[in-house]
Amino acid sequence: MRHMRIIVTHYGGPDAIEVIQEERPEPKAGEVRVRVQAAGVALPDIMAREGIHPETPRVPFTPGWDLVGAVDQLGDGVSGIKTGEIVAAMPIHGAYAEFVCLPQQELVPVPAGLDAAEAVSLILNYVTAYQMMHRSVQVQAGQRVLIHGAAGGVGSALLQLGRLAELEMYGTCSARGASAVSDLGGIPIDYRDQDFVEEIHRLTSEGVDVVFDPLGGAHAWHSRNALRPGGKVVAYGNTPSLRGEGLTSGRPGRRNRLHGVPIYMLYIAGGWLLPGRKRIVPYSIQTLKRLKPALFRQDLITLLDLLQQQKLKPLIAQRFPIAEARQAQEMLGKGGVTGKIVLVGSGQGDGGG
Ligand SMILES: NC(=O)c1ccc[n+]([C@@H]2O[C@H](COP(=O)([O-])OP(=O)(O)OC[C@H]3O[C@@H](n4cnc5c(N)ncnc54)[C@H](OP(=O)(O)O)[C@@H]3O)[C@@H](O)[C@H]2O)c1
Repeated sequence: MRHMRIIVTHYGGPDAIEVIQEERPEPKAGEVRVRVQAAGVALPDIMAREGIHPETPRVPFTPGWDLVGAVDQLGDGVSGIKTGEIVAAMPIHGAYAEFVCLPQQELVPVPAGLDAAEAVSLILNYVTAYQMMHRSVQVQAGQRVLIHGAAGGVGSALLQLGRLAELEMYGTCSARGASAVSDLGGIPIDYRDQDFVEEIHRLTSEGVDVVFDPLGGAHAWHSRNALRPGGKVVAYGNTPSLRGEGLTSGRPGRRNRLHGVPIYMLYIAGGWLLPGRKRIVPYSIQTLKRLKPALFRQDLITLLDLLQQQKLKPLIAQRFPIAEARQAQEMLGKGGVTGKIVLVGSGQGDGGG
């Protein structure tokens, strides 16, 4: 039996994405084959396509950090799981396919009845947001936080979790995202027209307790100025621009997994060495998962439970069929997207929201 899989053929723009048809993969001993119902599309996928994400595999590779799907076939030695059960996983790459084989211990059970696209949004974006909020810094009710890219995938997750934690929230976004940020309980700050540091001090006088910063480098350093003494910047990205221009170049590139890392480390060290008690704390979901896989599992189960209780409502920007992965990445790369773009397997529906 055949299936469809997406591959990135070279490092570069969207033209690097190809759809291939091949035999379905067979699960090896200890593995489970999953029929993908939903795979998340995220900026790290685009950065890997461009060759500049620390998790960039060698080409050709299949992108896709996270998936939700139905157990389809069990490899030798697998027990305690049945075909048809719904599971979630974060393989980091490989999820843009109709069928994926994964080690059984990578799978997290998904409660029945959840929308696969909403459930998949929890894996990379909400686990990142949850762990930054509750593990990198332990936020307390009433604290003030600034969330950069607040209308985006991780940003909107931070807003929803911040509301549950009763935080006072400010969020940078472009004008297009302002209403989404307000609807989720944040006070929008237009990053294109306003200096967010000036704006934070105008609105709060002494500054915020925590800034969540996905841009890194000099931007994270500037974010430090929005903190009150003793505050922390959680730096979780290293993207010179989160806007499309830098990520839809179309130019063939090369694999550079250390892109921007030395300057990033310098700023983190500077936060520790300089006076003012304002630290920059790095966060990486993949590093924490590799070091403490049980925490990843526990936090994802907590979030799936919150989704089932309808305490979370992930924003789905658009659902694309897997075959339209290129269009999905082009849409994300251009910017202006509110919430999560999801690739859906056959029979899962498509279209907006
Ligand atoms: N460390 C980790 O473990 C981890 C995990 C997940 C993601 N990440 C990182 O998180 C970042 C965001 O990923 P995502 O999937 O949430 O992306 P996304 O959905 O595209 O969201 C990015 C958002 O940032 C906004 N933006 C662009 N430039 C900005 C600026 N200069 N200041 C403030 N906001 C700006 C965009 O708004 P407009 O489009 O309207 O301009 C967009 O809403 C990426 O760098 C990714 O690598 C890190």
